[in-house]
Amino acid sequence: MNAALQPAAAPLDRLGRPIHDLRLSVIEACNFRCGYCMPADQVPDDYGLDAASRLSFDEIETLVRGFTWLGMHKLRITGGEPLLRKGLPDLIARLAAIPGIEDLALTTNGSLLARHARALREAGLRRITISLDALDPELFRKLSGDRGTVENVLAGIAAAEDAGFERLKFNCVMQRGINEDEALTLVERFRRTGHIVRFIEYMDVGTCNGWDRARVVPSVELRDRIHARWPLRPLDANYRGEVASRYAFEDGAGEIGFVSSVSEPFCGDCHRARVSADGQLFTCLFAATGTPLRPLLAQGEAAFAEHLTGFWKRRADRYSELRGRVDAPRKHVEMFLIGG
Ligand code: GTP
Ligand code: 5AD
Ligand code: SF4
Ligand code: SF4
Repeated sequence: MNAALQPAAAPLDRLGRPIHDLRLSVIEACNFRCGYCMPADQVPDDYGLDAASRLSFDEIETLVRGFTWLGMHKLRITGGEPLLRKGLPDLIARLAAIPGIEDLALTTNGSLLARHARALREAGLRRITISLDALDPELFRKLSGDRGTVENVLAGIAAAEDAGFERLKFNCVMQRGINEDEALTLVERFRRTGHIVRFIEYMDVGTCNGWDRARVVPSVELRDRIHARWPLRPLDANYRGEVASRYAFEDGAGEIGFVSSVSEPFCGDCHRARVSADGQLFTCLFAATGTPLRPLLAQGEAAFAEHLTGFWKRRADRYSELRGRVDAPRKHVEMFLIGG
């Protein structure tokens, strides 16, 4: 990278937001069928298994290098389920070596983690977020679309701990009347472990999850319930634009978080770009369409970065602030294409 070029080249979008994070999907396929993301009756079993459309590791490296020219320094690998991508540790090793990448994380459903945790750690991965909506085996099975077992995920967590991942994050999407009762169980299970449970408000992502606002459990309600059992106090954000609001247990047993994009939108500080496995840029989790980047990668990282600057400068997304208004966009990219 040409470091001298970087500060001047770091663009702001139309709402004055820089680009700090890239969330990069490496595969469209998933071995789960969570109803809020990829419902089994809407998405065929073999969806996303065709490898031809995916960016190659060389293309991904050029893409990530190009993003660093614009000031991106936080990289999160997502899917679908990223551990289904063959050779992922090799890709992680290449990405971890790119100057400017200060934080490299992975979001996974955890089902294949027991097999891969050590190789990922050795490749240079430092942070993992695991989706975990329930500890009850039957409920977990149901929420995964009858595909996964909580035992496998718990084995993945244990393997990650053994491999040296000390501060895991767990994403729990809360749905009214479905897994609400799991909240206290999850908190109790992971207090004093150093890991962080985050509760995510159920969102109207994609087009096929049949979202119903009545099923959203507002974070304040959940926070009050947890506070009544284990008193909490708010913590400052780790960095500007952090998605989750943080709370510490008063008794020193660690922290939890809440992602409240329905009840308290945080678009004003949204510094995130998303790229799908086939190389399309999405400037919002709720964008209707993406911009194909693949044809630009062949031009090399500097030229690619210049194109990207133009795209970012035109960005004006703030869907969560518009939600519910008549002029809010109605068509949204599927969550499983950009991994949250
Ligand atoms: P770190 O702070 O780096 O640990 O990451 P994070 O808090 O962004 O965690 P993660 O990437 O796991 O995000 C948590 C969840 O918040 C995601 O899975 C999404 O469901 C949601 N989320 C993340 N970014 C956005 C965003 O820009 N907009 C909205 N509406 N939701 C988001
Ligand atoms: N609402 C909220 N979070 C969601 N995720 C997937 N779909 C939704 C939704 N409709 C979360 C998953 C996972 C992350 C990738 O995105 O729980 O942790
Ligand atoms: Fe798969 Fe994650 Fe979507 Fe569930 S939320 S279907 S695990 S991509
Ligand atoms: Fe960013 Fe779009 Fe989420 Fe707002 S709704 S925080 S603009 S991704």
